[in-house]
Amino acid sequence: MAILVTGGAGYIGSHTCVELLNAGYEVVVLDNLCNASEKSLDRVRQITGKELTFYKGDILDREILNKVFAENKIDSCIHFAGLKAVGESVQKPWEYYHNNISGTLTLVDVMRNNGCKSIIFSSSATVYGNPAQIPITEECPKGECTNPYGWTKSMLEQVLMDMQKADPQWNVILLRYFNPIGAHKSGIMGENPNGIPNNLMPYITQVAVGKLKELGVFGDDYDTPDGTGVRDYIHVVDLAVGHVKALKKIEENAGLCIYNLGTGHGYSVLDIVKNFEKANNIKIPYTIKPRRAGDIATCYANADKAEKELGWKAENGILEMCEDSWRWQKNNPNGYES
Ligand code: NAD
Ligand code: UFG
Repeated sequence: MAILVTGGAGYIGSHTCVELLNAGYEVVVLDNLCNASEKSLDRVRQITGKELTFYKGDILDREILNKVFAENKIDSCIHFAGLKAVGESVQKPWEYYHNNISGTLTLVDVMRNNGCKSIIFSSSATVYGNPAQIPITEECPKGECTNPYGWTKSMLEQVLMDMQKADPQWNVILLRYFNPIGAHKSGIMGENPNGIPNNLMPYITQVAVGKLKELGVFGDDYDTPDGTGVRDYIHVVDLAVGHVKALKKIEENAGLCIYNLGTGHGYSVLDIVKNFEKANNIKIPYTIKPRRAGDIATCYANADKAEKELGWKAENGILEMCEDSWRWQKNNPNGYES
């Protein structure tokens, strides 16, 4: 059974390729490498000792998509490809709507033309906006997104839900990720951000390795136990395993399913700093900065539905996430260019 993994050279995609190959699936990756290195796929091969097929190409390009479907028997698609930088999406909304929305519309059209009607979509906790309840269940209403990136996720969820409603042969699984961090235990595969990282953990690891001077903590006056923002950090390998479980669900003709993939635990920014210091015995200097526009105080999941229906539960704790993030950064100070 071949699985098309769009965006498979990226951070979550590459970790998912490992878990898919280990579970015995045939893997076909399509990635235009706009935010990834092909070397990540060499690491996937190195870790698993297995082969995968790679096409360098764009989900906006029908020709390459048709070629992928003509040359492989694709049963399902795990769709990671997309632009994901929140701040950049505010500066370049058209590029985000075009890439993420037009790209997904093109992908699903080629899928159905080829009789492939099963998709697992990378959604995000961002679709809840400022959540109506904490912890967040899947029944929690979707909210106002604070940036174009978030809207692309929210809109694409709607597109896929409507398609599934109109044609119940579709299997659509929407996975709402919380905050993925960590790296493969081997230390040879991890997150490879371009330029100065926007996200907390890659920023911390770059401070730890000496590439950045100190962490700026965005606000200490939120209504949280220590005043800093609280999030649900999830190990990227646990997240990857969640996709394999979702594929099993698709094999049972899932129809439409929506799952939160989180741990159910909230950690503040300062909790993360402390846990990173404890796990790795490295001091992380920080200063308090103003709040970052668009941030919310608290966001963590109730992930019971995924446990009940997929038999999935995050296994790694916060110290392991901090250790694994650091092992990757320490061994590869310049990511895949090291
Ligand atoms: P990533 O940038 O590492 O991976 C995305 C991949 O998609 C990259 O390899 C990029 O080259 C590729 N890509 C982008 N546009 C493409 C296009 N038009 N055609 C082909 N390939 C294209 O990001 P990630 O962190 O691995 O995220 C994977 C998915 O999960 C994304 O859709 C992202 O929005 C979503 N997500 C990520 C997070 C997070 O915090 N990392 C949280 C929630 C949801
Ligand atoms: N933070 C800092 N300093 C930094 C970076 C982040 O204090 O240099 C804080 C933020 O203010 C926030 C927390 O650390 O309180 C986490 O911030 P991230 O940027 O790492 O993550 P976000 O929760 O803002 O967003 C991430 C992804 C989104 C995704 C969301 C899902 O970037 O794409 O998780 O919950 F939608």
